[in-house]
Amino acid sequence: MAIHNKSHHNHALMSINKLRKDNKFEINNVTSSDIEKSTICLNIMDCCDFLKDIPDNSVQLICIDPPYNLELEAWDVYDNYIEWAAKWLNEAYRVLSNTGSMVIFGGIQFRDVKSGDIIDIIQYVRNHTKFKLINTIIWYYKNGMSAHRYFANRHEEVIWLAKTNDYYFDLDSVRVPYSEEQLQLALRDKRLNPENTRKGKNPTNVWEIGRLNGNSKERVGHPTQKPVEIIERFVKALSYKGSVVLDFFAGSGTVGRVCINEKRHCLMCDSSFTSIDYFNKHIKLMKDLKQNTAYNSTKNSEEFFEQINGRLDKNERYAAVG
Ligand SMILES: C[S@@+](CC[C@H](N)C(=O)[O-])C[C@H]1O[C@@H](n2cnc3c(N)ncnc32)[C@H](O)[C@@H]1O
Repeated sequence: MAIHNKSHHNHALMSINKLRKDNKFEINNVTSSDIEKSTICLNIMDCCDFLKDIPDNSVQLICIDPPYNLELEAWDVYDNYIEWAAKWLNEAYRVLSNTGSMVIFGGIQFRDVKSGDIIDIIQYVRNHTKFKLINTIIWYYKNGMSAHRYFANRHEEVIWLAKTNDYYFDLDSVRVPYSEEQLQLALRDKRLNPENTRKGKNPTNVWEIGRLNGNSKERVGHPTQKPVEIIERFVKALSYKGSVVLDFFAGSGTVGRVCINEKRHCLMCDSSFTSIDYFNKHIKLMKDLKQNTAYNSTKNSEEFFEQINGRLDKNERYAAVG
């Protein structure tokens, strides 16, 4: 019996096609502003306390790499993982703007299901929130641990959730260039739009990006530091210049580093003081790469929003209070 391709019955595709028809799929329905400097806030506190002070609909992208109860580190132990995760997932939904997205790194724990993993998060999100699951990205890497009792793991999952169907997505900013040979072939393919073909190909939802080895030049010392390249792709595609990106499990602050380079404002928090040293190491590495490291630093989220909304500068604020 023939197997029919049912992708046109897929609800996500159907709603995207409807948006296209209604001419709503135009990405740049947002005001992107080429800011001179990013504003950065890195607070050392619990994520749930940090989130409480962030206004509704104020964030374009949340990019997080949460702890998963693996008990590898002191910060990675929770009695009831999903009950805890539900608190920040609900807050995340509240603070996102209507064009906003949330990206969550995770893995699937095959052996021990008592802990939380990305499947538990997807299940919670589907059953208890209005988030829309847009993509599951397979982050594939060739370097990893060896194994003898199972196939060695070479991928991690990253889910992309949107608050509404009006999510911002700038595919052109992350297209992958074709080789000259591939380009000539693709230009002959009548199904492809030649204008888009010349811009490069869709990176698809399988991304091959090396994990950071112990001796990687990018390493600043955080045990679960993520590569700049993978964060960069999310920041470029799902946020725009001058918009606000949030990471409430900042770790070394890789998201903040990318935001400075890509001219986004960034709110971060982590429960550990070591984050500050790690972040300073990122800045030093950026300087070594001759990247622009100028940014405005703010002491909390309230000051952060005052600064980016240009309401009052710090001196005026104190003058107004006094
Ligand atoms: C997986 S790491 C993030 C690594 C980061 N993506 C990077 O590239 O460096 C998770 C971080 O969450 C922090 N963390 C754990 N529980 C937290 C909590 N309740 N509130 C805030 N941060 C927390 C840990 O200190 C740890 O640095």
